[in-house]
Amino acid sequence: ASERVPLVAGNWKMNFDHLEATYFVQKFAWQLRDAHFDFRRVEVALFPSFTSLRSVEVLVEADKLKIRYGAQSVSVTDQGAFTGDISADMIAHLGCSYVIIGHSERRKYHPEDDANIVDQVRAVLAAGMQPILCVGESFEERRQGIELDFAVGQVHDVTRDLNEAEAAKLIIAYEPVWAIGTGMVATPESAQYAAQAIRDDLRATFGDKVADTVRILYGGSVSSKNAVELIGEPDVDGFLIGGAALDVDELTRICRLT
Ligand code: G3P
Repeated sequence: ASERVPLVAGNWKMNFDHLEATYFVQKFAWQLRDAHFDFRRVEVALFPSFTSLRSVEVLVEADKLKIRYGAQSVSVTDQGAFTGDISADMIAHLGCSYVIIGHSERRKYHPEDDANIVDQVRAVLAAGMQPILCVGESFEERRQGIELDFAVGQVHDVTRDLNEAEAAKLIIAYEPVWAIGTGMVATPESAQYAAQAIRDDLRATFGDKVADTVRILYGGSVSSKNAVELIGEPDVDGFLIGGAALDVDELTRICRLT
């Protein structure tokens, strides 16, 4: 069995204002505490909107919660005349552990190309946080049977610009676009194929240490109904969860099943 500690990451996307976020975190923390949840066995992280990060930080500090948190994207520049942007240092100073980078929704609705994504990864690493790099094919690539090459290629486009120490800090989320928010979850086998292909590529580029360290999450219609089978796969090290992370009872169930 792998030494990697699984990560359950809840991506709230553009949901919950800071009051709703505060209420959720409190309830989630109570439920995990009541379940005697062992945070050394499974890491848990939430990804609120920027506007809720400070509220989450205050709660986590005040109650010494073991729940971690992070942001959903980041600016590639560190400061200056960039109206509306948020820098990696600003995010790090709010106690964030992670930043999600290159989510398919960001790639689709914002001009986030490979070069921009590499810069985001660098900015997050320089600020002392871990990037969660999202990759995954659309239905079209799957139809053509090139899904593994596509996802591995997306990872490779980023990792080829990193050194070994930087690559070791990455977390990768394999999220097939056709599975996001559709209820069409990937089979455990196909999640495993993709995770394994990505890990093999890391091994070829950086060697065993990096390949055995980097956690590869699966994302796309994860729920308490499919979490057990997915996490049973050797190269699946946790989940990036959208819809199911908006329901505190369901997210608690998934954490307990992981
Ligand atoms: O980042 C998580 C996400 O894109 C998956 O969303 O709703 O299919 O769990 P969902």
